[in-house]
Amino acid sequence: MSLFPTYNRFPLTIVSGEGTKVFDDQGKEYLDFVSGIAVCNLGHRPPRVQEAIQNQLDQVWHVSNLYQIPVQEQAAEKLSNAAELDYVFFCNSGAEANEAAIKLARKHTGRDKIISFKQSFHGRTFATMSATGQDKIHQGFGQLLPTFEYFPYNDVQAIEEVHDGHVAAIMVEVIQGEGGVVPGTTEFLQAVEEKCRELGALLIIDEVQTGIGRTGKAFAFQHHGLSPDIVTSAKGLGSGFPVGAMIGKAELAETFTAGSHGSTFGGNPLASAAVKATLEQIFTSDFLSRVDEKGTQFKEKLEEELLDYSSVNEVRGKGLMIGISLNTEAIQLVHSLREQGLLAVVAGPHVLRLLPPLTVEEEEMSQAVRLIKQAIQQHEESLQKA
Ligand SMILES: Cc1ncc(COP(=O)(O)O)c(C=O)c1O
Repeated sequence: MSLFPTYNRFPLTIVSGEGTKVFDDQGKEYLDFVSGIAVCNLGHRPPRVQEAIQNQLDQVWHVSNLYQIPVQEQAAEKLSNAAELDYVFFCNSGAEANEAAIKLARKHTGRDKIISFKQSFHGRTFATMSATGQDKIHQGFGQLLPTFEYFPYNDVQAIEEVHDGHVAAIMVEVIQGEGGVVPGTTEFLQAVEEKCRELGALLIIDEVQTGIGRTGKAFAFQHHGLSPDIVTSAKGLGSGFPVGAMIGKAELAETFTAGSHGSTFGGNPLASAAVKATLEQIFTSDFLSRVDEKGTQFKEKLEEELLDYSSVNEVRGKGLMIGISLNTEAIQLVHSLREQGLLAVVAGPHVLRLLPPLTVEEEEMSQAVRLIKQAIQQHEESLQKA
């Protein structure tokens, strides 16, 4: 194989997908509760997004940001309105969106330090890796960028005690995704915002995983009454078309002027067509309230069926971003669920993460609950026998 082995790949080749279902090269069907890691929020091959990309394919694919791109402007308007912010910079991934946010915060404030949190995940570029508060992500890469500092997540007191005039921004996830599906408390997130105001630092909310309707609001910060200066997005933004975005307040435009930052591909016509069609469907109050309802129902069912098992500690999360915290290795369950036709993913060693498409149907959620219950039961029985 001619690929760098940066991923441990499962022995599964998905060759087609529709809605919540995917099919492998043997014709076996799976319920996809991974969604390409929170990407296919409208399910696989959502028709209206497919049509928008197809129409754009028939017109022009790429022109560069040297020229006007009306569909990019339309996508930006939808995104900034939904985030209650003003301007958008398009890029190609979550890491690039966070990279842009870090650069903008440093240039705008004229300060260097970025505070982030232990167990956070912000990406794999040098700056976003440095912002990520997990040793395993840093290992082997030598000295990180020196201006990043990690605080304990959900620790109000620790953040209140920061008195530092060098802080350009605090960067935070509303729910730590890769770090184990750990929801931030309203009290903590508000304390972070207050600290930013006190220090004259910017509040950067990383919504790469939690955004685009995943938690039942357009962006997860909207559950907590926050008003960030910058929000970053990617994953679900293009329904599988690779695209990222940094969204910010109007006053930041005086810093991100022509020549200060850029991206050859960022927001090209194909990506923008995918974004616009995606947002037109997700950012409606009906769609978002359905996600909220489905999320509540799914979580309640999981709690009802699973909490009696001794290997299950907790079911947590918001909307359709759910983590089942276990006192056993989550990867074993991922393997047995895959064999039973359900795709799930881990978030750290002990959390089984479920990220179904936001279009998931009730029957599909019930089937997933049945399969998870069965897998946990079998796992506990095999431990007893051993
Ligand atoms: C919260 C968060 N930020 C940033 C990233 C990085 O995004 P990407 O892999 O698109 O660079 C991720 C990816 O998992 C993420 O969950």
